[in-house]
Amino acid sequence: MSDDFFPVPSQWAAQALLDREGRAADYARSIEDADAYWLERAQRLDWITPPTKADESSFHEADFGVKWFADGELNVSANCIDRHLAERGDQIAIIWEPDSPDADVRRYTYKQVHEEVCRLANVLKDAGARKGDRITVYMPMIPEAAFALLACARIGAIHSVVFGGFSPEALAGRLVDCDSTIVITADEGRRAGKTVPLKANVDAALAEAPCVNKVVVVQATGGAVQMREGRDIWLHEAAAQVSADCPPEPMNAEDPLFILYTSGSTGKPKGVLHTSGGYLLWASLTHELCFDYRPGDVWWCAADIGWVTGHSYIVYGPLANGATTLMYEGVPNWPTPARIWEVVDKHQVHTIFTAPTALRALMKEGDDYVHSTSRASLRVLGTVGEPINPEAWRWYHSVIGEGRCPIIDTWWQTETGGAMIAPMPGATDLKPGSATLPMPGVIPQILDGDGAVQEGATEGNLVIAGSWPGQMRTVWGDHDRFFQTYFTTFPGKYTTGDGARRDADGYYWITGRVDDVINVSGHRMGTAEVESALVLHESVAEAAVVGFPHDIKGQGIYAYVTLNANEEPSDDLRKDLVKWVRTEIGPIATPDAIQFAPGLPKTRSGKIMRRILRKIAEGEVSAQALGDVSTLADPSVVDNLVANRQG
Ligand code: WTA
Repeated sequence: MSDDFFPVPSQWAAQALLDREGRAADYARSIEDADAYWLERAQRLDWITPPTKADESSFHEADFGVKWFADGELNVSANCIDRHLAERGDQIAIIWEPDSPDADVRRYTYKQVHEEVCRLANVLKDAGARKGDRITVYMPMIPEAAFALLACARIGAIHSVVFGGFSPEALAGRLVDCDSTIVITADEGRRAGKTVPLKANVDAALAEAPCVNKVVVVQATGGAVQMREGRDIWLHEAAAQVSADCPPEPMNAEDPLFILYTSGSTGKPKGVLHTSGGYLLWASLTHELCFDYRPGDVWWCAADIGWVTGHSYIVYGPLANGATTLMYEGVPNWPTPARIWEVVDKHQVHTIFTAPTALRALMKEGDDYVHSTSRASLRVLGTVGEPINPEAWRWYHSVIGEGRCPIIDTWWQTETGGAMIAPMPGATDLKPGSATLPMPGVIPQILDGDGAVQEGATEGNLVIAGSWPGQMRTVWGDHDRFFQTYFTTFPGKYTTGDGARRDADGYYWITGRVDDVINVSGHRMGTAEVESALVLHESVAEAAVVGFPHDIKGQGIYAYVTLNANEEPSDDLRKDLVKWVRTEIGPIATPDAIQFAPGLPKTRSGKIMRRILRKIAEGEVSAQALGDVSTLADPSVVDNLVANRQG
């Protein structure tokens, strides 16, 4: 880890929303006078009934619950659209850059977004949608995906976005878990010149998800699809038949806004639930403060709408702030590794927000692709999703930003709704690899294994000691799982699942997950999910999956597979297992290595010792690295594992 230091440039300090002292004072007030602070901050939203109460949360079992602004009423879509109409109705709200550089850009003003969202909302109502219903969005990166979220919010339906790269199986599981009645999808998606059969995937998923009775289909590519009479609706046909006005439904601040499935260390993905008032406040406030957002800035969050980053920083945060948000259909390095910077120039982007994995992939292509572009419009460079290695940080800073643009490394999670630990451009001196300091109201602590709070420079488990407005409220359908997962390891605190180091300046350095969650190309995955997929295969008796360091992806997926007694290991079977996992979950779960293992290292009580499997996958196979193996039921399995390591 690097202890390099990049002080706030003086021109930034002079003009930023908050300077160093400003940030410190704001943070102190957010903790010491929390209620007054948050009721004041809440005024950045447009309330139908302004709240008179802020935080009423408790992390303790007796009165457990997360609750903010609970007597306030608002509508999230009205906050993202309607309230901007008078002042900036003709300003561009969404710029859409297509996959192919030769295809046409689409631009929508706030007025046009209003009309599109109202029409879609009315189509959903005609399809039977009511306040509180769950609507699943399985879409490519096209403007209609943003309209879909806002249309659900407008009528008080709860959206559940499922990433378009997930398989029909994964989609079906998520549809059934939250009992979705409607799916919004497209005929096909486009990525890097290829098409993705979204509607066909939905058709396959619905065979296992009888809860769904309507499918609204956007015509995106014009590819051939089957439409089922009485169930499937073309959006363009239905939208032409309905009113261009749909009054926003008044919602309580604590009414659900969305469910987003994410991986944990055990079991099926959890439906993380976010509500309306606190979430929107958090998304919009962090968007402004972390990136020093100013009216007129062109903002580009290069995530997919299927992840929380897309929710908070393509749609809700920027639109609540009246920004111009860029949506990009494609991938950063297609048709060439210059594509991402060409898009920056084409639309004069001020801030770009992307993942370290994308930077590492582009970095290895060399700097010529960067130098062929200007990038002069860029002011701020953001990153999220995984630890950024100092080498990638420096490349981003010196080559992409030519030393001009602060690097905003934001640490947060699906559960937190928005950035939790992050620099602010005019306020925070930077150290490559550190997410720096907590956002307003966020109280990070570092605990040792026994839960004792560590002071000063230290390393351990990262927890958050109190609630913040953007915190998730529950796991859909399983409130007890919410409590058990996050509040019992260290009672009274929110357990993040991450480890962190704090240096002598109070800066936080995220060291990675301390549980069985891995982070592959910024995509979060439970090793248990990949294991469950593998053991569904008829040849597999048992599987254990771990992460290992990967130059581009951050972490790769390494699977140890024990075959059934009558099965022979072979390269064909290995290929078949890779394909199997891709079909069960999706391409993002593709194992990088599969090792056939006649036995797994288990304790006498039958628990797999993952520590050993991680070391072998990392290539650390010395007796010293592997540590004490004498507690294993059969220590000899380790020799076999080491001998057959996949490299
Ligand atoms: C990791 C993505 C280091 C972390 C917003 C966290 C990070 C998980 C950073 C959440 C960062 C996210 N530095 N690690 N700046 N940002 N992470 O839910 O392990 O997809 O727990 O949310 O990503 O992933 P999720």
